[in-house]
Amino acid sequence: MQPIHAPFPATRLRRLRKSPALRALTQENLLSAGNLIWPVFIREGEGIEEPVASLPGVNRLSLDRLLGRAEEALALGIPAICLFPYTDQSLRTEGCEEAWSPDNLTNRAIRALKRELPELAVMTDIALDPYNANGHDGFVREGVIVNDETVAALVKMALAQAEAGADILGPSDMMDGRIGAIRQALEAAGHKDVAIMSYAAKYASAFYGPFRDAVGASARLTGDKKTYQMNPANSDEALRLVARDLSEGADMVMVKPGMPYLDICRRVKDAFGAPTFAYQVSGEYAMIRAAALNGWIDGEKAMAESLMAFRRAGCDGILTYFAPEMARLLRA
Ligand code: PBG
Repeated sequence: MQPIHAPFPATRLRRLRKSPALRALTQENLLSAGNLIWPVFIREGEGIEEPVASLPGVNRLSLDRLLGRAEEALALGIPAICLFPYTDQSLRTEGCEEAWSPDNLTNRAIRALKRELPELAVMTDIALDPYNANGHDGFVREGVIVNDETVAALVKMALAQAEAGADILGPSDMMDGRIGAIRQALEAAGHKDVAIMSYAAKYASAFYGPFRDAVGASARLTGDKKTYQMNPANSDEALRLVARDLSEGADMVMVKPGMPYLDICRRVKDAFGAPTFAYQVSGEYAMIRAAALNGWIDGEKAMAESLMAFRRAGCDGILTYFAPEMARLLRA
């Protein structure tokens, strides 16, 4: 739709940019703390906030510290937190049994958060990589990442997380059929109000590098994830994946990574009108942070601009490691 306007000089588009007041009146999109989900890395221990070298400003938190930080995030207006465990190396096996242990690190964190901060929504990640001896999101059998056997394990993982009190489950594994299988299992177990945010369009991306350091999977990963994550050259396929996941029972869908895939966000939002999220992933955060630390860009402005871009592209919300910093800036 093209707005009709008279030719120059009757129309001078700069008129509406001349002052902060006119710019505010004509601003098309808004970003608020309520749009942010904060991904957090957790680890065993007490009193620990352990820096991640490739993610300056991001720490792995022991559960006591997690509660303090989560309380601050909630006070800043951030509605949800997403948990990613750094699993002890001794618990990473080919069978990934720790993934569905009711008392694993993630499930203990969910219980502690729901007990102390019930208003804060807790989201989890469903995939086997933090528990897998070889760093893949699914079971590996003779060099192949097997689909159906993995889905059965993901269902067990989902049920354990729902049982612990998770509000939103985030299957990030890209196996076929996992949304339907998880949704049916949740219904059967009486977890009717647990939401699923499907990592629907998840690309095989170089931008996940610092995340794999943070969860301790980098050194273990053999090969790449191209047989299950998407080809960065594809766009129509993202729509097929989103349609499939919505039809299987996803409540919300995600595009990941974020900034290099804003065109996908827009297509997904326009095609389905479903709650659409983007994950501004570790490598995107690291790029902005590293340039800012070098004095090459204004980190605060770049952060705010990058997050507004997701709103402009049609996203309802953004998972971002910047969440607390952005929320603080919005408050200022
Ligand atoms: C694992 C998972 C990954 C991320 C979120 N969940 C890594 C991967 O797929 O290898 C990446 C997030 C980030 O880079 O910030 N299933």
